[in-house]
Amino acid sequence: MDLFRTKPIQQDVAADTGMRRDLNAFDLTMLGIGAIIGAGIFVLTGISAATQSGPAIVLSFVVAGVGCACAALAYAELAASIGGCGSAYGYGYAGFGEFPGWVIGWMLIAEYAIAVSAVSVGWSGYFNTALESVGMGLPHSLLHGPFDATPGIVNLPAVGIVLALVVLLASGAKISARANEVMVFIKLAAVALFIGVALFHVNAANWHPFIPPVEATPAVAGGGFDWNMKLIELLTAGAGGGTHFGVAGIFGGAAIIFFAYLGFDAVSTSAEETANPQRDLPIGIIGSLVICTVLYIVVSGLLTGIVSYHELNVPSPVAYALLKIGQNWAAGMISLGAIAGLTTVCLVMYYGLTRLLYAIARDGLLPRSLATLSPKSRSPVRIILFSGAVMVFMSGFVSLGNLASLTNFATLAAFIVVCVGTILLRRKRPDLPRPFKTPGYPFVPILGTVVCGYLMLNLSVTTWLAFVAWMSIGLVIYFGYSYSHSVLAVREK
Ligand code: ALA
Repeated sequence: MDLFRTKPIQQDVAADTGMRRDLNAFDLTMLGIGAIIGAGIFVLTGISAATQSGPAIVLSFVVAGVGCACAALAYAELAASIGGCGSAYGYGYAGFGEFPGWVIGWMLIAEYAIAVSAVSVGWSGYFNTALESVGMGLPHSLLHGPFDATPGIVNLPAVGIVLALVVLLASGAKISARANEVMVFIKLAAVALFIGVALFHVNAANWHPFIPPVEATPAVAGGGFDWNMKLIELLTAGAGGGTHFGVAGIFGGAAIIFFAYLGFDAVSTSAEETANPQRDLPIGIIGSLVICTVLYIVVSGLLTGIVSYHELNVPSPVAYALLKIGQNWAAGMISLGAIAGLTTVCLVMYYGLTRLLYAIARDGLLPRSLATLSPKSRSPVRIILFSGAVMVFMSGFVSLGNLASLTNFATLAAFIVVCVGTILLRRKRPDLPRPFKTPGYPFVPILGTVVCGYLMLNLSVTTWLAFVAWMSIGLVIYFGYSYSHSVLAVREK
């Protein structure tokens, strides 16, 4: 059994693959911002500030940003040197072999598919608030799936948005990129509006104490066990320290708001549709991440400056904070911006998922019949329909509350693999041309590995178990199907 058979490194990254190559560096940066700014900043910032870090949420954003920046640099190096399709899956496959490639690919499938479903549920909440404001709110039964804590029939708006994206994506990458750009503009305008209004309403007293005193979770304080406790609490039980607020809370908060950064890696799935991928991918990945990191730090600082962090554990903290300071008009505009923002996140994550699945199916690790392009739009229509159907089901019928942190976990794991992969590949193939080199090598990829690893320890025991279950399913598929159906395997026979 050869788990490390490889396909050749595709140095000719601009080769004709049948897809239309019409995305440029600007499109890619917009795709990145499209995937990044969404539920993380519009929803999770409040929860994190209120329950984990307090005003030091700003530092949580710095910590998570450092982990992502290291991973982004590693991604950029691999994207420019190995090239080819399917993002980190493709780099893993070409750089280290089929099985490592599949493992990374399977992690990324979790990241993208669950993120789309989770964010579409958040979208549904914001959308219904907008409907309510014009007196047309939907009944409870059409806003919740049957497996929710408060069951209903189906989450209709969540299903609707995924179906709308199916149609948009099937129309082709360039049309999707244009639609994305319009919505990215709207959400950036909303973020700018928040910053502009909030700047004049800061009450510096809200920033004191900047790092609130540490607290232990009740289960840990009593020496007990709770499925939702962080792994690090379990490992350090008995040491007596708390992990909420204080310095530990900064990392706890970072593990949650890490979600806000997800998406810049989706840029790297577009290599085959990019005119000059070796130059444009690094610009798109790093550019979008830098812009969003700055915005996040400013927004989270202002948010905890205009209202006390104690009050922010609400579903729409950014709009809520503006309502609290009497800026109702701005709150309304922010909600519209959030709807646009969540739409772009779903769109780009879904786009990334389809390109990833296309690459995997073309290699034969999933049924090859899925990997056909529509003659007109040259987009992978079967994959779009197939993955759309799965996500419609997840969005409409499954409760995704806890699964959202599985997205974080899978991404952190993938980022570690990418960072370590950069180091291993420099050793294994020092000869490879590297148009973009990670600066500060090997310190930067090592730092990325350590930060991402530490954030994983800050996720719950349930999340760790869910990840083990997800990877086990991946192993069953690989050894039950992919290993024998892979294009490389068929060629060897
Ligand atoms: N970064 C994306 C968001 O915050 C997933 O919604």
